[in-house]
Order: sequence, then structure tokens, then C-alpha cells
Amino acid sequence: MTMADPSTDDRPYDIVLFGATGFTGGLTAERLATDGPQSLRWAVAGRDPRKLEVLRSRLAVHGAAGERVDLLTADVNDVRSLHSLVSQTRVVATTVGPFMEYGEPLVAACADAGTDYADITGELEFVDRMWLAHHERAVQTGARIVHACGFDSVPHDLGVWFTVNELPEGVPLTVSGYVRAGGSISGGTYHSVVMGLSRVGQSASVAAERRRLEARNPASRRVRSLPQRPAKAPDGRGWALPLPTIDPVVVRRSARAVERYGPDFAYGHYLLTRTLPVAVGAPVALGGMLAVAQIPRGRDLLLRLRSPGEGPSAAQRAKSWFKVRFVGEGGGRRIVTQVSGGDPGYDETATMLSQSALCLALDELPTTAGQLTTVQAMGDALMARLQAAGIRFEILEYQ
Ligand SMILES: NC(=O)c1ccc[n+]([C@@H]2O[C@H](COP(=O)([O-])OP(=O)(O)OC[C@H]3O[C@@H](n4cnc5c(N)ncnc54)[C@H](OP(=O)(O)O)[C@@H]3O)[C@@H](O)[C@H]2O)c1
Repeated sequence: MTMADPSTDDRPYDIVLFGATGFTGGLTAERLATDGPQSLRWAVAGRDPRKLEVLRSRLAVHGAAGERVDLLTADVNDVRSLHSLVSQTRVVATTVGPFMEYGEPLVAACADAGTDYADITGELEFVDRMWLAHHERAVQTGARIVHACGFDSVPHDLGVWFTVNELPEGVPLTVSGYVRAGGSISGGTYHSVVMGLSRVGQSASVAAERRRLEARNPASRRVRSLPQRPAKAPDGRGWALPLPTIDPVVVRRSARAVERYGPDFAYGHYLLTRTLPVAVGAPVALGGMLAVAQIPRGRDLLLRLRSPGEGPSAAQRAKSWFKVRFVGEGGGRRIVTQVSGGDPGYDETATMLSQSALCLALDELPTTAGQLTTVQAMGDALMARLQAAGIRFEILEYQ
């Protein structure tokens, strides 16, 4: 066990938050200001110094760390500004998205400089492209590159980890995750979703290239997906629809990397809906958007419906919630667990990203490097932090 890479200890900052002037970035800055220790050495970064000054005055009333924040200017289109940013800090947390559009230069700079990195992407193509282009370099420099530190995919990755740890060791295990959530989305998330839908073909071919290269180092253990078809909910109330987000991919990557998931691990990921109209309407609506997003003019029309920078109000977020239920089986045992919390997309994503950055910067973690899942990089340490921050991990049934 070691602290984060000692060679970066003499840098002036523990954490720099990039994208802090955006909607999710602003909420994440407030969380770091409130939850960060008084001794935290940190800065918020963005491309517009005036917006950063406004943010600084907002943070000054948010706890001890909020009074001591510095401002750094950097632009994704100015690679030198990114190199300067990453050389001044041990950890960069970023909310600058859509990540396929803006994300790569920062990952490249962190991988080169041995700087730890956490983002909130839910874009699988981006994660796979970053693995292909920068994983090896990050392994060489010791940088920990941890994508998907928001609602994508922290509750799912850590929720399965929590469930697996309650089941017997060394036996085949199956886990199913059932997601329910209520809330609305920001302009930035909407743009990322539309961009993702317009690139399903490219995403599939990048994933295939990654699988081809990973197959050169076959795992001694088996990791699979459970059959992905609509079914009745396990408690008989409503329907479970296959949910092909980044989350099941992240869960399976953790399972491949960590021995504790057993010799034969299978995972299925579903959206749980209690009503038939949603069960029928959700796939139809998604299919419609997917079709429109394939045509450039259709995609532009979809993008014009929402502007980046805007998001749900505090009152809307206060009514938002999520519950992810996991059913795990193996070695003669069956367990039902649940991870739950408030507004998934923004308030809790801000908590998850800020705690991931604090965890990478301040906690004792196993020595790892390269592109990692949240379980691989932080596991129990991050789960303990999230529990302390109000996200619930519970055992509901155990047989
Ligand atoms: N996985 C999850 O659970 C989750 C949850 C929430 C959000 N997200 C993702 O997070 C991303 C941000 O969402 P959001 O709603 O916060 O978006 P947003 O409000 O539009 O914020 C985007 C940020 O990127 C900055 N930016 C844009 N171009 C830049 C450039 N050239 N150089 C430096 N900074 C630049 C913007 O700076 P300015 O302020 O100067 O414009 C802003 O700070 C999206 O990709 C979204 O999908 C994921």
C-alpha cells in the first residue's frame, strides 16, 4: 500500500477541478469547498477568467476549503495550457464534456505527466479510445486514469463490488442490477447523449479493436454478460429492460481485473419500470432519437433543443432520486442489496466526482496505474467516503 505517486508530492496543488464554470463543475466545486479538508491545496480551472472570479466569490461562503481556492486558466484547444495545468497538481478532476469532443488532450497530458485523472464521462467510445491511445503511457508514468466517476458508473461499479463481497469466495457468481431514477438532465448531458447516439457505429468498432488487443492477454477467470432481454421485475412489480449504458461494461472490467469476483462471474444491467407505458415507450423513444441522430441535419436539430451550461434548478434536484437494486447469487447464497441517494445526475454526481478526487489525492490506496475502474483504483476507500457523504449502501435480504 502506498500513497499516490510520491514523485508528484511536491506539486503546489492536491486537486485541480477543470470545467468548474459549467453546470456540474460548479456543483462539484461547491462540494470540494464544503467537504474538502481545510488543508486541501486546490484550484478551479476553466477557459474564462471572469467566470472563474464569479465562482470564487460563490465558493468563499462554502466551508473552510472554499475560502482558500486558487484560479487557473486553461483551454482544451491550447495544449500548452493543459500541460501547465497538469504539472501543477497531483489529481485533475474534469467535467469538460462532451468528452468525445473535448476530453482527449487532458487525458494525454495527465498520462504524460503522471498526474492522476478523474472524469464523469458516460461515453464508452471515449473511454475505449483513451485506453487505446494513452493506457500504456499512463502505466509507464504511474498516472491513474479513472473515467466514469459520476452516476455513470460509481453506484453500479461499487454496488456490485459491495454485493460480491457479501457472497462466498472462489465460486461462480451472478449479479443483476436494476436501476430506477427520477430527475431531469442538463444541456451538457443532453449534448453528450445526442453525440453518443450519432456515433454508435464508431463506438462499436473502437470497442471491437480494444477487445482484440485485450484478447492477447486472456484472463484465467471467466466474466460474462447475463442474457439481455426484457423480463418481469424480480419482485413481480413491473418490467426490467436491458440497459446498454457504459455501466455493465465498467462492472465487467472490474470483475476481470479483481480476483474476488470469482472464477466465473456474470452480470446483467436493467432499467426497472413499474408501468407498462414506460416499458413500451422508453425503447421506442430511444429508437426514434437514435434514427434521427444518424442524419447530420437531424442531429443538429436535436442539439438545438438544449444549450450547454444550463441544468435542473435546486428545487427540481431536491425532488430527484435514484435506487439501484442488486440481486446476487452464488455458492448457495442469495443476497439483495441497494445503493440509493438523491439527484443522480448532478448533486450526487458532484459528490461522487469530488470524493473520487479527494480519495485519489489523500487516501492510502493499492498501487495501480493506467486506465482503471473506480473499483480497481479506489474500491472500499471510495465506498466509505460516499457512505459518509450520505449515499446509502444497504443489504435488504440475505438467504
Ligand atoms: N456520468 C454522469 O453521471 C454525468 C452527470 C452529469 C454530467 N455528465 C457529463 O459531464 C459533462 C458536462 O456536463 P455539464 O452539464 O456540466 O456541461 P456544461 O454546463 O456545458 O459544462 C461544460 C464545461 O466545459 C467547459 N468547456 C467547454 N469547452 C471548453 C474548452 N475549449 N476549454 C476549456 N473548457 C471548456 C465549459 O466552459 P465555459 O463555462 O467557459 O463554457 C464548461 O465549464 C457532459 O459531458 C455530461 O454528459 C455526466
